[in-house]
Amino acid sequence: MTAVGIDAIEIWTGKLKLDLAETFAPAQGDDPGKYTKGLGLHASSFPDVYEDIVTMGANAAYRLMDRKGLEPDDIGRIDVATESSFDNSKPVSTYIAGCLEQVFDDDFHHANKGERKFACISGTQSVDDAYNWIRAGRNRGRAAIVIATDTALYARDDPGEATQGAGAVAMLIDEEPAIVELSTEQGYGSADETDFLKPNQQFPSVDGKRSVKVYLARMREALDDFATVSGSIHPDDYHMIPFHTPFPGMVRKAAALGYRHIVRGTDVEDVLAEEIGHQPVREAFDSEDAFNDAIREYTDALTETERYRDWYNQAIEPTLEISRHVGNWYTGSVHLARASGLKVAMEQDIDLAGEKLLVASYGSGAQAEVHAETIVPGWEDEIAALDIDDQIQRRYDLSFEEYEEVHDVHNHAMDAHIEEDAEELTPPEAEFVFDGWGRMGERKYRYVE
Ligand code: CAA
Repeated sequence: MTAVGIDAIEIWTGKLKLDLAETFAPAQGDDPGKYTKGLGLHASSFPDVYEDIVTMGANAAYRLMDRKGLEPDDIGRIDVATESSFDNSKPVSTYIAGCLEQVFDDDFHHANKGERKFACISGTQSVDDAYNWIRAGRNRGRAAIVIATDTALYARDDPGEATQGAGAVAMLIDEEPAIVELSTEQGYGSADETDFLKPNQQFPSVDGKRSVKVYLARMREALDDFATVSGSIHPDDYHMIPFHTPFPGMVRKAAALGYRHIVRGTDVEDVLAEEIGHQPVREAFDSEDAFNDAIREYTDALTETERYRDWYNQAIEPTLEISRHVGNWYTGSVHLARASGLKVAMEQDIDLAGEKLLVASYGSGAQAEVHAETIVPGWEDEIAALDIDDQIQRRYDLSFEEYEEVHDVHNHAMDAHIEEDAEELTPPEAEFVFDGWGRMGERKYRYVE
């Protein structure tokens, strides 16, 4: 069977930065440690006044096509995953194709375009769609572009405000991929949940504490489901585990629970038992509360062991590096985590060819999905082309007053045309920008040389 997977990645961050420790925490009257240590976040990326999901997605896709020497005829499918869409009918992918047609001689009239919605998991679902389309032989030799793009903004003073972010990840899905080959096996954990939603509103209604519990419950279900198709899961089977990362502290919790779950009943649990005992079993306790206390105590002890720390430092920590500086990118977040892990491995000269990733995606509402990927030889050449570190460095560092103003500019409930008059904070260069509204309320874009 021909390998199908991710052939190239480009990342585009919003061009502004909100420093959580230096700028946000003092204004909120909070200890910076709540953000840097508790949530594990140092900064959020924020969109400048001329940026939105279309510009960021189009900029990432254009760089991807330009770098890979692709023409519109090479692309048979453009799928956009977003939970920040501004139109209930016209998909963001047509806007993005329209942008790209400004800079290419040809058009994308024979490419299938769509938009996927299921909170943060739709980026992974779009990769699945592209994979299935190629596997079904419907691609006529062409590749698919999947773009996960979001402005993850919360209402001012919502507890989620500290986890905001903005950026896009564009991925080329093709045969004989140069980064990772996708596996056919998948595990799902999916249920009707009311934890995070946007019922026809821009900013989410969130039950933050519950959303954390739902993430963990669905992830565990997905892991169990995955094990039914992949066989038992051993931590040594996977070099890294990129998780959906709303904030690194969430992944810290998920990793501890996931590790405890997959080592249960294995040789690893036996070795750990010499230090911290065996995992508590329900039958040994009189009440659910007593059992839960014992589980919490065991998990705390587990995360202090050298074996766990070594595993965490290899499998999890590298996947969080970019996220710490850009915040939550919703649909792009798990794809940023994969790129982050591979980037750190490349910088450390680790040979990952043939190694596996276990990719753990999640979307509120709620669904988790787990699948494996195999890293292919030459992956490091593709990852070396990323310039996300430079982009992060170049961002404009917002004062709190500027942050308040630019948050208002992106707030759809404020004056509808505020973006047209707002002062930009960074000069656009070689990129697509928002260019005002058309006669039917459509958004317009232009390429700035
Ligand atoms: N030093 C060190 N740590 C500190 C600290 C300090 N000074 N002050 C607080 N902390 C710790 C807290 O102990 C806590 O850690 P634990 O969870 O391990 O106990 C952490 O920092 C956060 O503090 P709070 O729980 O008090 O923070 P909060 O209640 O204000 O907000 C949140 C946390 C509910 C997650 C909020 O950020 C939120 O609502 N976020 C949006 C929803 C979200 O991201 N949910 C994640 C799962 S859903 C999902 O993944 C989909 C998605 O993308 C949205």
